[in-house]
Amino acid sequence: MSIPPLAEELNTSIRDAHPQVIHHLSQLGCKLFFPKGILTQSSEAKTRAHRYNATIGIATEGDGPMHLAAVHRYFQDLSPSECYPYASSFGLPALRSAWAEKQQAEMPALNGQAVSQPVVTNALTHALSVVGEMVVDAGDTILLPDQLWGNYRLTWGVRQQANLVTFPFFDDSLSTFNLAGFEEQLHKHGDGKLIVVLNFPNNPTGYHPTRKEAAAIVEALRKQAEAGTTLVVICDDAYYGMFYDAESETQPLFAWLAQCHENLLAIKVDGGTKEAFIWGLRVGFITYGIKGGNSDLYAALEKKTAGAVRGSVSNVSMPAQSILAKALKDPAFSQQQQDKVAILRQRYEAVCTAVADPAYADCWQAYPFNAGYFMCLRLTDVEAEAVRLDLLERHGVGTIALAKHDLRVAFSCLELDQIADCFARIADSVRHLRGT
Ligand SMILES: Cc1ncc(COP(=O)(O)O)c(C=O)c1O
Repeated sequence: MSIPPLAEELNTSIRDAHPQVIHHLSQLGCKLFFPKGILTQSSEAKTRAHRYNATIGIATEGDGPMHLAAVHRYFQDLSPSECYPYASSFGLPALRSAWAEKQQAEMPALNGQAVSQPVVTNALTHALSVVGEMVVDAGDTILLPDQLWGNYRLTWGVRQQANLVTFPFFDDSLSTFNLAGFEEQLHKHGDGKLIVVLNFPNNPTGYHPTRKEAAAIVEALRKQAEAGTTLVVICDDAYYGMFYDAESETQPLFAWLAQCHENLLAIKVDGGTKEAFIWGLRVGFITYGIKGGNSDLYAALEKKTAGAVRGSVSNVSMPAQSILAKALKDPAFSQQQQDKVAILRQRYEAVCTAVADPAYADCWQAYPFNAGYFMCLRLTDVEAEAVRLDLLERHGVGTIALAKHDLRVAFSCLELDQIADCFARIADSVRHLRGT
C-alpha cells in the first residue's frame, strides 16, 4: 500500500519540523494518519450547527445523550454527557491537560523542553501496542531487560515480529543495575535503528534505579545516539510513584531522555492503572519527546497516534476518562494516592525484613527491590514451578513462577500481618521439595 495523502502531509510536517524523526517511525507509522471525513465534520458541526446537529453516531434526547435509567443508576456524580457520548480518539481534552499538568509537575528536569500532549489509550497494554505500530517494523531489534513483563513478547515479538534481545538487568552478584551489561548490548545492537525499553519500577523484580544509576543510563543512551544510532527509547512507567527508598530517582527518566539528543526519540507510556489504582478502568497515555522537538512535530505524532487508536479501538471509555479527569482535579487526590503508597511502603519494609531473615539463608537470594508492586526470589536448588505448585497444594498460597528458579511475589496483594507467614511458607515449600 502506498502512503495515504493525509499521512504524507503529516510526514512532510514531521520532516520539516525535525528531519531525524521520520527515521524513528515504522513503515506503518509512516502510513498512519488521522482521518478527516466524519470526525472532522462532526467536530465542525459541534461549534457551528446551532439549529440541528445530525452528524454524530449516537442518539440524543433533549439536551443530552439518550440513556437508560437502568444503566445510569450505577453512576454517581457523572452526568449522562460524561458517560455515554464517544470520546475523541485523542482522548478527553480535560483529561489530556490534567495528565500533562501532572507529568510536568513530576518532571522539573524537563526544564522547559517541549513534549507532546499525552494521547489517551485503553491503558498501558494498548499504549505499548500502539507504540509498536508507530515505531516497530518486523525484524527491528528491541533491547529489553532480561527481567521483563512477559506481555512484551506478545505485543512486539509476536504481533510486530520484532527481534527481541535482552541485557542482563542485574550484575552477577545481584546487587545493582548492570550498567556495563546494558552498555555492551547497546553497542552490540547499535547499527542503524535500535528500540530500547526501560521499565522502572521494574516488573517482575520491583527494582528502580538510584539517581546515580538513572543518570548513567541516560548518559549511555546519549552516547549511543551521538554515535549515530537512531534510538527509540520506550519508558514503561506503569508503576511510577511507588518508591520506597530514599536513593531512588523520583523523576521519570523521560525527563532527561526527551532532551537528550536529536537521534533519540523518547516515548513515555504511563497511566492510571497502577498509579491511581484503577486497573479495570483502562486509561493510559502515550507522550513523545525529542531534543529539538516543537509543537508542529508533536501535533503530527499525536495525529498519527490518534489514528492508530481510531483504527483499533476507535476511542477509549468515556466514563473512565471522565472519572480520572475529575479525580485528578480533586484537591484530595494526591494525598489519597500518597496514603496508599505509604501502605505499600510498610508492606515493602516487612518484606525486606522477612526475606533477609538469616533463618532463610539456605532458601533464596532476593533480587534487588525498592519500588512497585513486586519482588522476586531466586530459589536455591529447587525449581520455581515446583515451589509454586507446592505452595498452592500444601499452603493455599499463590505466587508466580518465572524463570527456572525465579518466583515473583506481589506484596501489593498481601496485608502487613500476612507477610512474615507468607515467606515462612515459601521457605517451607523450598525445604520440603529439597528434602532438607
Ligand atoms: C510493566 C508493565 N507494563 C504495562 C502493564 C499493563 O498495564 P495495563 O493494565 O494498564 O494495560 C503492566 C501490567 O501488569 C506492567 O506490569
